[in-house]
Amino acid sequence: MSRRLEVGAIVVGAAILLGGSAFAAESPRIAYKLHCSGCHLLDGTGSKLGGIPPIPGVAGHFLRHEKGRLYLVHVPGLANSGLGAKESADLLNYIMDTWGHNDRPADASPFTEREVTELRAQRVNDIMMLRKEIEADLRKQGVDLAY
Ligand code: HEC
Repeated sequence: MSRRLEVGAIVVGAAILLGGSAFAAESPRIAYKLHCSGCHLLDGTGSKLGGIPPIPGVAGHFLRHEKGRLYLVHVPGLANSGLGAKESADLLNYIMDTWGHNDRPADASPFTEREVTELRAQRVNDIMMLRKEIEADLRKQGVDLAY
């Protein structure tokens, strides 16, 4: 490769990398729009009629329960989205930062790629039963997750 071509290739490569990282910062928002907003709507409020739970005022409370993180990682819309563990962790953190900040416990830690990978490896036979179990437990603490 000539010196000139080499420099050109490096410049193009750097531009792709920079473009890529700008996209990465935006990507949870875009992923939410693409994969989730069809059901949960752009503002996360869902649809009572369609049986789609609202995210604001609800999702953050799951972090109060020992199985809540397992539940959130296995919700069907996310589990079937085809998003990788890193993208899923970023998306859950985006949701929590956008709509869960008033409800999650102050010491809740962010999701990581590693945690999502580990939780995905655990089997959840009935996601709706898991939600019911969490809902019943949290009700005893005065938190209502009904929608
Ligand atoms: C086809 C419609 C649909 C899509 C698309 C969808 N969801 Fe959901 N989501 C649901 C339903 C229905 C539930 C309730 C599941 C249950 O009761 O176990 C749910 C539950 C949830 C919950 C827990 C809220 C609660 O109160 O139980 C979160 C958080 C969530 N989804 C996030 C997402 C994310 C993130 C995406 C995109 C990657 C997504 N969903 C895509 C329908 C959808």
